[in-house]
Amino acid sequence: MKVEQIITKKIMEFDKYANSYLMKFKHKSFLSKAMIYGVLNGGKRLRPFLVISLSNYLKIKKSNYMRVALAVELIHCYSLIHDDLPAMDNDDLRRGVLTTHKKFDEATAILSGNSILTLAFEILADKKTHPDPHVRSKLIKTLAQISGREGLAGGQSLDLLYERKKVSQAEILQMHYLKTARLFEFCACAPFIMKCSGKKEIDNAILYGKNFGLIFQATDDLLDSIGSKRILGKNIKKDLMQNKGSILLFKNTSEVKKYCKILADQATKKSVIFGKDNSIFKELIFSIIDRTI
Ligand code: IPE
Ligand code: IPE
Ligand code: MG
Ligand code: MG
Ligand code: MG
Repeated sequence: MKVEQIITKKIMEFDKYANSYLMKFKHKSFLSKAMIYGVLNGGKRLRPFLVISLSNYLKIKKSNYMRVALAVELIHCYSLIHDDLPAMDNDDLRRGVLTTHKKFDEATAILSGNSILTLAFEILADKKTHPDPHVRSKLIKTLAQISGREGLAGGQSLDLLYERKKVSQAEILQMHYLKTARLFEFCACAPFIMKCSGKKEIDNAILYGKNFGLIFQATDDLLDSIGSKRILGKNIKKDLMQNKGSILLFKNTSEVKKYCKILADQATKKSVIFGKDNSIFKELIFSIIDRTI
């Protein structure tokens, strides 16, 4: 099955939730309007989908897991707003509409990104997220580590440095891991943290999230080259133009797919949760390899 067929129903529910959460901002200041624009402008909501599906599997309360799904998507949306800024990738199209700095202005895009980032932690810290303060603290610490210098922001920094440097394949893959895969690690392990699962289950979840994210970024690099601007809602062929450290410097299309298949196999082989033939999680990770969106 295709990835979009797998995810549709749950993301509608998530969008409704995100919409009602953000729309209740009492005073819709200029900054709040930019925040709302940068979050509610579409998107596949793949990260919330993972959190929600695993939470359903683990029978976690909806009022808890929806907040974690929203926190993750907020981190992702902030990262996109900043990624598109002139100082980074300098893009004017995102999710089929103008990027936040084009719709508003650069300073507002920076500040809305900052405020979306901090809102994620405000949401996790509230006791509505989980009754146990130790669980909340673990969620906050994990997400903070994954978003900062040892994760997303660190990877984004390498991405920019590599525009001006000759890079190895190992350096590119490490950059993919940091800028993209670590947030997927959080999506996969957060439900197990909420469930207070043991180390083995959490480690399996982290491996699944990591490989999921590596596949996701490898296919993002591929789609930049061979994808459709209309379907993706973003400009294409920019990596080559901006001298980005893309995986395509080292692999052609069929080699990228082969690499992704090895990662998907590795993530699903040993785990009962992720590896069963009829598991939606197995189907999902393999479907990412051939995504067009
Ligand atoms: C784009 O992520 C940025 C990457 C990490 C490659 P998505 O492709 O998930 O973006 P949206 O949320 O669907 O717009
Ligand atoms: C973005 O990678 C990764 C993050 C936003 C963390 P890209 O720069 O390749 O993402 P797109 O192609 O602009 O969506
Ligand atoms: Mg980028
Ligand atoms: Mg970009
Ligand atoms: Mg890209």
